[in-house]
Amino acid sequence: MRVLFVCLGNICRSPTAEGVLRRELESAGLAHLVEIDSCGTGDWHIGKGPDPRTVAAAQRRGVDLSELRARQLAAEDFQRFDYILAMDHANLAALHEQCPAGCEAHIGLFLDFAGHTDRPVPDPYYGGEEGFEEVLDLVEAASRGLVEDIARRLGAQRD
Ligand code: 4NP
Repeated sequence: MRVLFVCLGNICRSPTAEGVLRRELESAGLAHLVEIDSCGTGDWHIGKGPDPRTVAAAQRRGVDLSELRARQLAAEDFQRFDYILAMDHANLAALHEQCPAGCEAHIGLFLDFAGHTDRPVPDPYYGGEEGFEEVLDLVEAASRGLVEDIARRLGAQRD
């Protein structure tokens, strides 16, 4: 099973989702069955580590993002990943625009897995510290829902 998180810059929201989902899958004993990655629709930060405010906020919750490096969404991603999850509506629109015909991935908003409908993870880049905490709160809730969904799909594959 492969999961790709997508935001704009790949230095705030999607790396946070990548790190938090990895922690949640480890807790559930499923980490060895799932590959996780993240990327941005934009190209400004390619090769850079996550924003220091993102790294610090995640560290406070026991998630180490320091080794991650930003990359841009690529055409191959649509074949490779089972879930391609957008942080906001602009990311989702970019995914739908670039998605090739016949793509079988589940493409949607990440917060659908937190029981929200049509809700974005707000971009914290131009705001204060509290924005980074809000990203973590939302991402933690959605990650727990996504782990349940992944566990269901893995169970269905075994049957
Ligand atoms: P992200 O946040 O999409 O959550 O990584 C942003 C990072 C950088 C920029 C915008 C959003 N930027 O404009 O450079």
